Amino acid sequence: MTDVVHITRVGPIALVEIDNPPVNAAGAAVRQALWAAIPELDSDPDVQVIALYGAGRTFTAGADIREFGKPPIPPMLPDLCQRLEDCQTPLISVLHGTALGGGLEMAVATHARIGLPGLRVGLPEVALGIIPGAGGTQRAPRLVGLEAGLEMITSGRHVPAEEALQLGLIDRLDSTSATPRDAARTAAQAVLEGALVTRRTGDIDIPIPADVIARWSAEMARKYPLLPNRKAAVEAVAACAQPIRDGVREERRVFNVCLDSPERAGLVHAFFAERATSRIPEAGSPPRPVGSVGVIGGGTMGAGIATAFLLAGLPVSLSEQDAASAAAARDRIAGHLEGAVKRGKMTGETRDITLAKHLQVDTNLDVHAQADLVIEAAWEDLETKKSIFAALDGVAKPGAILATNTSYLDVDSIAAATTRPADVLGLHFFSPAHVMRLLEVVVGAQTAPDVTTTAFALAKTLRKVPVRARICDGFIGNRILNRTRMAADHLLLMGASPAQVDGALERWGFALGPFATLDLAGLDIGWAARKRRAPTRDPRERYLRLADRICEAGHFGRKTGRGYYRYDGGARQEDPEMLAWLQEERAEQGISPRALGDQDIVDYYLTAMICEAAALLGDGIALRAVDVDAVLLFGYGFPRQRGGPLLQADMLGPQTVLDRIEAYAKADDHFWQVPPLLAQLAASDGRFAKLPDSDTPRPIHPTGDA
Ligand code: 3HC
Repeated sequence: MTDVVHITRVGPIALVEIDNPPVNAAGAAVRQALWAAIPELDSDPDVQVIALYGAGRTFTAGADIREFGKPPIPPMLPDLCQRLEDCQTPLISVLHGTALGGGLEMAVATHARIGLPGLRVGLPEVALGIIPGAGGTQRAPRLVGLEAGLEMITSGRHVPAEEALQLGLIDRLDSTSATPRDAARTAAQAVLEGALVTRRTGDIDIPIPADVIARWSAEMARKYPLLPNRKAAVEAVAACAQPIRDGVREERRVFNVCLDSPERAGLVHAFFAERATSRIPEAGSPPRPVGSVGVIGGGTMGAGIATAFLLAGLPVSLSEQDAASAAAARDRIAGHLEGAVKRGKMTGETRDITLAKHLQVDTNLDVHAQADLVIEAAWEDLETKKSIFAALDGVAKPGAILATNTSYLDVDSIAAATTRPADVLGLHFFSPAHVMRLLEVVVGAQTAPDVTTTAFALAKTLRKVPVRARICDGFIGNRILNRTRMAADHLLLMGASPAQVDGALERWGFALGPFATLDLAGLDIGWAARKRRAPTRDPRERYLRLADRICEAGHFGRKTGRGYYRYDGGARQEDPEMLAWLQEERAEQGISPRALGDQDIVDYYLTAMICEAAALLGDGIALRAVDVDAVLLFGYGFPRQRGGPLLQADMLGPQTVLDRIEAYAKADDHFWQVPPLLAQLAASDGRFAKLPDSDTPRPIHPTGDA
């Protein structure tokens, strides 16, 4: 008996319970305990059946991901699985909650599997940049067949219990037992009575036609050029043609290659980033209850925000300026809900009830009088927002949280327009708000701690990734975006075309390059902002007048068929006229263009991103490096397998980043300045990931001394 594995005997049945909260990950302690317990039970003549199950909410979520990249601790999971399979005593497993990765690999190494209702099984390793590495690629296809096995393993999808039964991954579904332990006893009894047949998965032979393997291999290489582990998973499955031990050995070889890959580092970082951002200093303050939400403004953002809450089951009041805008807002929301019905996220009946009973649209702010939280999503203008908040102050009930969906503006100034600044914060949603996962939670100087924890609790309800930010122009995401947009313009001035910049960054993993993104969003908004800022622009700023010229010609991006590109048949094509303007701009600035390769482009752009990320981390705008990475990953299309700009900085090493900045500064020492925090890390060979959390400006010791 150990802390993480409990054994009880019931007559000839040995019940083995894995108890390693929260998700029974098969970390070293669990492996060691099972490695000691199973052979002992197997050699005990009084034990006639062994039944393995999990305590708490789940069977097991697989290997302990936190062990990746660290020195391995024996016994290794594949050896443990082989030992389970080798048992002479019938050994069965009872699965509830989730049996994922190494958890399912243990289960398929046992001699029969029972599922409980609600179970989901899967081999999600590909999503972490690896492949199943404890026999999953060898045993799952032996149970479900080659094509079904390949589909499961290369997609990593969670398979529901009924489908798992149909596929042959589990042998039975038990919907009568009250607990996994009861189910384990019932199933073990069935084995004793000969009513449940046991067998060794590794003894099953399945055909492995070479053409099927070649087809899947080619498909994975085509679909995932930046994720070599997807194709590697197919190679491992091909080893099912060999005896089980040889196949597992080959699988391990492929697994180890993937484990050492930068993609694995990026994807595992992203997995933990998604969860790490919820650790906030206010965590001790219980959130306020939120049973209804008000939204001010029903344009693209407001309608998206309202939809997000309606989809989460919360009633929404929405106010607009006039009847026509109110009707348009209702139509937008109805359209979003219709989309949810089409995607199977909501039934038609629920949609009808939601629109009829849970959405109230009005032209009067009073409609929000009873809302627990009101989010303003009006035009991005400080005076407009201040007057809305002043009016809202007279309408909202005491204790209601008042949030602004600003993407740049000073939340403290907006809060000052009310008599209750402690109830005010920024909730920066990303468009489309009912789809995008990022939510920047902007905490003002006077925001009460329970207002912040309420925002984090709500984000969980909405299945979003909340990231805490302090106030600055653009907060975390848009502050970095502004900087990288300037860097992208520099690349054009230096000699690249928009298509080259976009192409290089897309080949590196971004879903869409910066210029294609601007065309998609529409160039007119940025044009208006540039015109506003022109009088105060720093004369030292290298300014490219290309976007202005494109707009002056009446081209605003995709919606007008032309922008940085032409969109004649839908697909983007280089625009010779735009290239001629670019050439004229370079000539006016006395620049002779030079050839830039993909690597030059990626290095320049990424360094600008890291530079701004380091600066805002030094300013205490983000609590920690991983929060910055989460913003870029979940709101700005940063490639997941690259993990985020600050993981990239840590992987490159701060000194390398600093050297790049100093080299770029030779051409532009206004734009390129070394952030003090980066200088400090470079001097001490430190890493962003190791910095303590801080939401106030960090004291800097450029020599690296702490
Ligand atoms: N290892 C280590 N920690 C894990 C973990 C794992 N496999 N799975 C989850 N956790 C941690 C989370 O980080 C989180 O920690 P925190 O509270 O400190 O932030 C905690 O457990 C709870 O997790 P969630 O917040 O994600 O809880 P949910 O209930 O929302 O989801 C889950 C549960 C579906 C199991 C989800 O956690 C999940 O998908 N986990 C990963 C599953 C997976 O990828 N397994 C394969 C692992 S790789 C492997 O097995 C290799 C093998 O082939 C050799």
